[in-house]
Amino acid sequence: MKNFINLKDIPAKDLRKILNDAKRRKNKRKKLCKADIDKDQPLKGKLIIQMYEKQSSRTRLSFHLAITQLGAGTIAIKANELHLGKGGESLADTAKILSTYGDGFMLRTDSDKKIEDFSKNLDIPIINLLSPSSHPCQVLSDVFTVEEIKKKPISNLNICWIGDCNNVLNSLIATSVKFKFNLNIGCPNNYRPPKFVTDWVKTNKRNINFFNDPKKAAKNADVIFSDKVVSLNDKVNKAKKIKDFKNFQINSILMKNAKKDAIFLHCLPRGNEVSENVFLGMQSRVWQQALNRVHVQKSILLYCFGKLR
Ligand code: CP
Ligand code: NVA
Repeated sequence: MKNFINLKDIPAKDLRKILNDAKRRKNKRKKLCKADIDKDQPLKGKLIIQMYEKQSSRTRLSFHLAITQLGAGTIAIKANELHLGKGGESLADTAKILSTYGDGFMLRTDSDKKIEDFSKNLDIPIINLLSPSSHPCQVLSDVFTVEEIKKKPISNLNICWIGDCNNVLNSLIATSVKFKFNLNIGCPNNYRPPKFVTDWVKTNKRNINFFNDPKKAAKNADVIFSDKVVSLNDKVNKAKKIKDFKNFQINSILMKNAKKDAIFLHCLPRGNEVSENVFLGMQSRVWQQALNRVHVQKSILLYCFGKLR
């Protein structure tokens, strides 16, 4: 049994194994309908419990499909529907109950500590569905999408992020270390990631490049990523933050700095960080990106259950 909490704690060879498995499984079900179960039903008989302390469209639906295709059952609950959420039951007792009824637990939360505490108290695997510090399922899936479209290992590509230094970027930084790719980050100087993130990169003998000018960040990029300027857990002056990022919008003029065949990716939901014509334009692959979450998350589940081929 393995947890999937933060990409920086997972060996690169395991991440690569997950991506290879996802590719094989995706190819195998080309003729199947969305909720058809894979022939081998690798998680048949299991119940996976998803818990959301905040909103989600893609994560809950893509995991619903992923779990269904693997032959397991799932239930998605809101934290405030449990005694835990109302303060009427301890985390330890809740974890015992989850381990009694369920075979796997997945959590979207505003607290990294809560994920750690659950991981210590559960007897079943836990998957991080987004926390303040990371969004590992999203970003591993994004690596899959990049390699699928570019038909090359991500280590041979120039990856660029323009926008806020948030949970999604933290996970992208972790993958840049694990898969050894060049990462340019375009953001205002005072919005760079915390020192412990850049220190971790240095400890791993890698480097990331920061640019206060988004055009320089985008130069020669194969892929441009972005995300909302204000995240769900942001307790900031929203108007000020949006104003601080106003020169960092990804529009068709900015895209011209990237390679001609560059693609645009965004985890969604979106805000004004990307113009309508880039988001809906020829270089955008955001819908393929969203769909691939189903395939990669299946292999993440199999990794957690020790069933990767
Ligand atoms: N990208 C993503 O995680 O979307 P949701 O918040 O809708 O799950
Ligand atoms: N950074 C965003 C990602 C949403 C999927 C957030 O945390 O709200």
